[in-house]
Amino acid sequence: MRRRSDPRRLRSVLAALALAAALLSAPAQAGSDAPSPERQRELLHLLRQDCGSCHGYHLKGGLGPPLLPGTLAGKDVDALAAIILDGVPGTPMPPWRFEVSPAEARWLAGRLLAGLDAAEEARR
Ligand code: HEC
Repeated sequence: MRRRSDPRRLRSVLAALALAAALLSAPAQAGSDAPSPERQRELLHLLRQDCGSCHGYHLKGGLGPPLLPGTLAGKDVDALAAIILDGVPGTPMPPWRFEVSPAEARWLAGRLLAGLDAAEEARR
């Protein structure tokens, strides 16, 4: 006798496949610990509004130095992330640890090194 296919079994197999697909696709977006697309938008907004108040809306400098790929070239992404997290004592550069996680600071530093305009362009 042949085994009849059981629709309930098929449904649970499909549910498991859908779950696996969701788990696999989520972190595959832009590097291993990249923030979610929603959080990326928030972080880019923070960069313009909060960081921009010192570094300039276009990050060309103001009270703080420019944060452009040209001026940051050759700097280490982890060193820049550490500055974002802990600030620079004795200067107006404040720590942002209460606002951004270490992974998010690293993501921001990477975006700055690549050029914020390019990062925002890619999100449109
Ligand atoms: C209150 C003003 C102020 C704000 C707000 C501010 N910064 Fe700064 N930032 C500075 C100053 C001043 C320096 C230079 C410190 C020094 O003399 O080394 C600096 C330095 C830096 C550097 C190092 C640049 C380099 O060439 O090494 C990075 C990266 C940086 N800031 C990122 C950020 C980010 C990202 C934010 C927002 C999350 C931010 N800053 C917000 C004032 C500010």
